[in-house]
Amino acid sequence: MAPRAYVQPVVETTTIFNPAIFKGKVLFCTGGGSGICRGMTEAVMRHGADAAIVGRKLDRLTQTSKELEKSTGRKCIPVQADVRDPALLKAAVAKTIETYGRIDYVICGAAGNFLAPISTLSENAFRTVMEIDTIGTFNTVKATLAHVRQAKGSYIHVSATLHYKASPFQVHVSAAKAGVDALSGVLAVEEGPHGVRSNVIAPGPIAGTEGMDRLTPKTPEAQARLDAISPLGRLGAIKDIEHATVFLFSDAAAFITGQVLVVDGGSENLRTVS
Ligand code: HXC
Repeated sequence: MAPRAYVQPVVETTTIFNPAIFKGKVLFCTGGGSGICRGMTEAVMRHGADAAIVGRKLDRLTQTSKELEKSTGRKCIPVQADVRDPALLKAAVAKTIETYGRIDYVICGAAGNFLAPISTLSENAFRTVMEIDTIGTFNTVKATLAHVRQAKGSYIHVSATLHYKASPFQVHVSAAKAGVDALSGVLAVEEGPHGVRSNVIAPGPIAGTEGMDRLTPKTPEAQARLDAISPLGRLGAIKDIEHATVFLFSDAAAFITGQVLVVDGGSENLRTVS
């Protein structure tokens, strides 16, 4: 069997939400230069918001910003910062405020991952993923919270589902994403009285992403297993995460906070009988 190409499933979308719901709002997104977080940013911009996308690679961020401005007609600024560095993140927030004067929505999406067993994973490798995913999320919250409070805004943290059960070769990201889920819950409880909401989106396997590419063996057997991965009979699309994002930031979710929204086509509920 020939290896299957990673393609984005077609998900028709454009008229689900009112395209002006985020008019006048500003999004700050870490990891927005590519993949799922780029799609999430584009979706929020398509609904009227301007954005700042933050990441380590300025070339990629600059290119993405131009493309997002073209596709949405909104403004997007690229800001280079490593989420592991609180000072750089604070500078990124300052640049966003200087440009737009406010931050309403934050996507904590910067993440790193690879497959490695505990027996060979180095201490530094474990720490690196914890620092990008968990501490990077904390740093992003710290840097943005005063502005999000002022706007009575909202956070979405991008997590995963692999830590719900023990996933081999994923101890680093499992620990890191469990930390992200916990952080979001506490943030929701502490900041709710200030009008701030915090939720998690937990994507299942999403086609056409770097994460998928890194984590899926390229054997025909592994590719075939992907076909049976969800009760809905397909892999996720970035569009599926975009829709969840627009919903959670919108007033339709005004009474939803401290939740984890699993977007995986029902894969977590699927128990196969062999
Ligand atoms: C074992 C590895 C490794 C690998 C790196 N390391 N890659 N160990 N297997 N494949 C080790 C290094 O040897 C080093 O340890 C330590 O990790 C730090 O590596 P650096 O390259 O110095 O770190 P850095 O340049 O900061 O890169 C961070 C990274 C990298 C996470 C390691 O892969 C990265 O930048 N990734 C960003 C993009 C990415 O991963 N996207 C996919 C996200 S998907 P030593 O001991 O040698 O010093 C995702 C979704 C999760 O997050 C859920 C999916 C379902």
